[in-house]
Amino acid sequence: MSGSKILASIGRRLEGKVALITGGAAGIGKSTARLFTKHRAKVVIADIQDNVGQSVCNDIGADASFVHCDVAIEENIRDAVDSTVSKFGKLDIMFNNAGALDPRKSKITDNEAADFDRVLDVNVRGAFLGTKHAARVMVPAQRGSIINNGSVASVIGGVASHAYVASKHALVGLTKSAAAELGMFGIRVNCISPFLIVSSLIKPYAKIDPEEINRRMRGLTNLHGVALKEEDIALAALYFGSDESGYVSGQNFVIDGGFSAVSHAFGLFNQNVEAAQ
Ligand SMILES: NC(=O)c1ccc[n+]([C@@H]2O[C@H](COP(=O)([O-])OP(=O)(O)OC[C@H]3O[C@@H](n4cnc5c(N)ncnc54)[C@H](O)[C@@H]3O)[C@@H](O)[C@H]2O)c1
Repeated sequence: MSGSKILASIGRRLEGKVALITGGAAGIGKSTARLFTKHRAKVVIADIQDNVGQSVCNDIGADASFVHCDVAIEENIRDAVDSTVSKFGKLDIMFNNAGALDPRKSKITDNEAADFDRVLDVNVRGAFLGTKHAARVMVPAQRGSIINNGSVASVIGGVASHAYVASKHALVGLTKSAAAELGMFGIRVNCISPFLIVSSLIKPYAKIDPEEINRRMRGLTNLHGVALKEEDIALAALYFGSDESGYVSGQNFVIDGGFSAVSHAFGLFNQNVEAAQ
């Protein structure tokens, strides 16, 4: 789409498009479903929380539909893709957003293999299955945008559990690998990697009050006093889902207020050197 056509379509950036959002009943997925429908997309929310997911769809109205789906189960993902196509006629955008987290333990020797498997099952196997079944219907259409929800833990260690960091690094590999194959069919594959938002994913493992977490996190990023919101990630998904990102594929777009790009450790070292002189 040309620049002038894009400007003319502001406010309806997904007009005519159909999106499937896994984990769309809550948090980032829910916010994305709302934003996508505001921009005229039809959206299917695929989640394990049936009542919550259905109620989000009821709130949105006729442009949204719910399907029960555990992303780690291939039949569920296959059915979610098929029901999207049968309800809305096609699939343009697949947002592999559902995610799992496990408790962060200070020693790897205390980590349970079962927790590791559960996180990898949802975060990597789920995105692999989502990509596979989205590609099944996108390849014949010769177009599509697949978006994975990564994390700042996809580019840096020490910010979450071993399983979570490993899974999100793997997701970037899957993004690039799928982009390499699917580009020839006009399908783009990208990853969005957010910093921390105190969502229902994080709350069960939070040892301190969510507001206090937010306050401390604001101090860690490079953008003074700015807190990340679910809507910020939804806006990035909107870009990757729209034709505005038509020449963008295989990328991991890190949305972390500069956290992983900037180290203040060197500045502190210099300050210490100056103080010692
Ligand atoms: N919140 C953060 O700080 C943060 C930071 C970086 C990345 N992320 C990533 O963003 C994504 C969404 O996280 P969120 O913070 O919005 O979490 P959330 O808990 O608010 O929402 C996640 C949704 O996924 C659903 N879900 C969980 N397991 C599922 C499964 N097996 N199949 C289908 N649905 C499932 C849940 O029911 C829930 O509705 C995840 O991939 C997460 O790793 C979150």
